[in-house]
Order: sequence, then C-alpha cells, then structure tokens
Amino acid sequence: FHVATDASAAEKGAYPYYMLKEIDEQPAVMRKLIEHYVAHDGSVKIDTQILQSLQQADRIYIVAAGTSYHAGLVGKELFEKIAQIPTEVHLASEFGYNPPLLSKKPFFILLSQSGETADSRQVLTQINAHHYPSLTITNVENSTLSREATYTLLLYAGPEIAVASTKAYTAQIAVEALVAKALGELRGFTTARNFAVAKELTTVANGMQALVDGKKKIEKIAAEILKTTRNAFYIGRAIDYDIVQEAALKLKEVSYIQTEGFASGELKHGTIALIEEGTPVVAVITDANTAKHTRSNAQEVIARGARVIYIASHSLAAVGDQIILPDVHPLLTPLVAIVPCQLLAYYASLQRGYDVDKPRNLAKSVTVE
Ligand code: G6P
Repeated sequence: FHVATDASAAEKGAYPYYMLKEIDEQPAVMRKLIEHYVAHDGSVKIDTQILQSLQQADRIYIVAAGTSYHAGLVGKELFEKIAQIPTEVHLASEFGYNPPLLSKKPFFILLSQSGETADSRQVLTQINAHHYPSLTITNVENSTLSREATYTLLLYAGPEIAVASTKAYTAQIAVEALVAKALGELRGFTTARNFAVAKELTTVANGMQALVDGKKKIEKIAAEILKTTRNAFYIGRAIDYDIVQEAALKLKEVSYIQTEGFASGELKHGTIALIEEGTPVVAVITDANTAKHTRSNAQEVIARGARVIYIASHSLAAVGDQIILPDVHPLLTPLVAIVPCQLLAYYASLQRGYDVDKPRNLAKSVTVE
C-alpha cells in the first residue's frame, strides 16, 4: 500500500485522465532530473560507490518487465555507445528461469517504475544469492526492489497513476543517459566527455513541450487511422525499433487494437502477409543510418494497401510526413518520439470509448509471478 507523499501531485486537477496529465508532465520531469543529477559545472552527481562498482564490471545486465524493459532497450544503446560497456537487456520473467551465461564481472540494473514487480524481485533474489552488485532504478523510494538491491537511483517522476506507463519510461531513459555519461567519463571515453547530458536533456524537454502543445493534431490522426481498425503496426530500425516496441505496447494496452512493433526490415520475412487494404502502419524515423531503409519498407507496405503515417525527426523529414519531431541527440530520440505515440494511444482509447487510465485485465504493479 503506497500513500502518495505529495497529495497535489497525485491529483488530476483540470485533466480528464491521469494518462494525459502524466504525458504532459514529461518536460517537467526531464528538468527535475537535471536539477537532481547534474551539478552547476555540468558533472553528473551520482554516488561514487555506484560508479566505482559499475567501473569494475565487464558487462551490464538490465532486467525489467513491460514498459521498463523497453526503457532498458534504449539503455543498452546509451551504455554501449556512450560508456562503451557491453550491455544485455533481459525480460525478468525469462531471466529467472533461463539465465544467460554471465560474464566474469556482471553488474545488474533492475528497472522498475513501482519497484514491486514480482518477476524482477525473483531475479534480484538470485542475484543477491550470488553476491553480484545491483542497482535499482525506480520511481518509488523504499520499494522492495530498492531495499533489496545494492544501490538505488530514483526517477523523481512523481506518482504515476495511469496503468499505462508514460513519464516513468522517459524518466528511466534519462537516468540511464546520466549514468552512461558518468560511467563513460570514469572509463575515460571521449564519447562520454562530449555528451553534454544536461544541455541535451534540456533540448529534449523543450522538444517534448512542443509535441504536447501540438496534441490536437495527434488527436485528429488517431481519429483518422485508429478509431475503427482491428490491427495496427509500428515499424522502425535501430533505435527506432526500440521506440516502436514501446509505442505498440502503449497502443495495444489502452485501445485493445492488436498492435505489433516490428523491425521494419523484418516485415518482408513474414509479417507483411498481414497487411491489408487500409491497415494502419506508423513508421518511426529518427535514425539517420536507417531512415532510407525504413522509408523503402514503408513503400512496400503502401504497395499492399497499408495506410502509412510517418513520424520523423526534423532533419530526416520528407514532404508529406505527418508528425515532425524536434531534432535532439541521436541517442535520445526515443524521449521525443514516444510522446506522439503515447498521445495516439491515449486518443485511440478515448475515441473507442474506453477508460484509458484503467485498461481491462491490467494492473499498475504486478506482484505475482
Ligand atoms: C505492469 C504494468 C506495466 C509496467 C510493468 C512493469 O505490467 O501494467 O505498465 O510496465 O508492470 O512495471 P514496473 O513497475 O516494474 O516498471
């Protein structure tokens, strides 16, 4: 049982639903994280014990469930590209019963909004039995995962009430970026020194604000393509593949539209068989290396009758793209790209007549395996 410490933060205020309030809060959460974790000189303020323990590791294992797992996928990009440490991401429910072959010096990161997910807790019990170091990144101080891990970092996102997670996802990615920056500097990599994390997260916060301010347009697109459809696809490559997996989960959990997030190059190996006249396909394009390829995959589904909506970064946008994202650091594009996807899910749920904050069959925190 959790009592919100800040009652006003847990109230809906003028918002019809918590999910919309929490989507709108994301720019403020980014700013709060900068305030908590970045010193005036631009250095990251993370407990040196955590960083030293991470520095001794030869590999990071991220373990999580649901939306937190998707934040972990982006974490792998950040840890490998900024801190240059090999990183694996695992579903907690799989890891516990079929663990991978571990490296000599593993370091575990448990990502969990609630800090109570049973699947993650049983993994942490095993980790502790082997005396491996662990860090829980969570929104809930003193949660079980936070108490049982060696270290904790908080998300400072404020209470997340809607069952579908939004601001916790973006907060988790931001904290991972901060850890990657600090660890990479300690490991002596210029990739980390050159990553001006506070400046980049400020650019993200401004970009998120522009996107939430433009929500009317997203509401219209949802009405056009998602109001009556039976299924939908999100496609992307590289970091955009990470984004579309979360975008698809968001849409399916609140709208009940059967949605899959696919690596767009993989469509032709089977899934393209599902494309029919009018099937909505949302193509996410923020990765410069694969932008062209995703566009040509989108053409392949258009040729089979799909209705394609493009969500593209400003610098990669083409004439006719429906949703343009402000340019941000290439490893932080999930933070802005997810915002219109969250809004598409929100509006699709309302337009189809559902209670967006309490989707059927789902619980905010799943405390049984
Ligand atoms: C539940 C929620 C999801 C969440 C997942 C992991 O299934 O409905 O929204 O992503 O648990 O929760 P956690 O609190 O560990 O991040």
